[in-house]
Amino acid sequence: MAYRIAPSILSADFARLGDEVKAVARAGADLIHFDVMDNHYVPNLTVGPLVCAALKPHTQLPLDVHLMVKPVDALVPEFAKAGASIISFHPEASEHVDRTLALIRGQGCKAGLVLNPATPLDCLDYTLEKLDLVLVMSVNPGFGGQQFIASVLPKVAEVRRRIDKLGKDIWLEVDGGIKADNIAEVARAGADTFVAGSAVFGSKDYAATIGEMHKRLASL
Ligand code: DX5
Ligand code: ZN
Repeated sequence: MAYRIAPSILSADFARLGDEVKAVARAGADLIHFDVMDNHYVPNLTVGPLVCAALKPHTQLPLDVHLMVKPVDALVPEFAKAGASIISFHPEASEHVDRTLALIRGQGCKAGLVLNPATPLDCLDYTLEKLDLVLVMSVNPGFGGQQFIASVLPKVAEVRRRIDKLGKDIWLEVDGGIKADNIAEVARAGADTFVAGSAVFGSKDYAATIGEMHKRLASL
């Protein structure tokens, strides 16, 4: 199993974002997770396509854009132009989920659906084969540094079962409260891609933190 660590820049020093992205890339990050919040779908306000475009020349790592915005569609081409590799959105935030997925893929990006802790899996029923990634939230979206909600573990396992049944290479990412201490448990439930904001950027030594996460995953 190939495991990926995606540090979330939400917990980085926003005044030194380019350097922070370079630092986590040097420290062994596999993706850069880019949290977009609109103070409407979620009660917080972060960064948009201009910041994404500004960061793009500073890293060769794929930019994993997590849209916590409503509506979604108008921002998709903006983030594609800004260099996003993956664009994920919350199905509750789009009136026409299938159309938004087609829009993302039509822009040449990988497409992901994001499931909040209380979102049922029905939205995967007619969409899974069109997805490159399923992102399961293990906190309610809006803030970094929240406590991991363990009741999502059976849900991660069920998503893994559905992906395996379909037999397509769809990434299963988990976002919220991931640390070296719980990453193995989340991997055992079936995740292969791990967002870590405060655990990485809140640590003194990014390489040691990401290294410890990879070590725990390697011991599975
Ligand atoms: C929450 C964001 C997360 C957040 C994770 O709405 O989607 O990506 O940055 O932060 P930590 O790892 O600190 O829980
Ligand atoms: Zn996120």
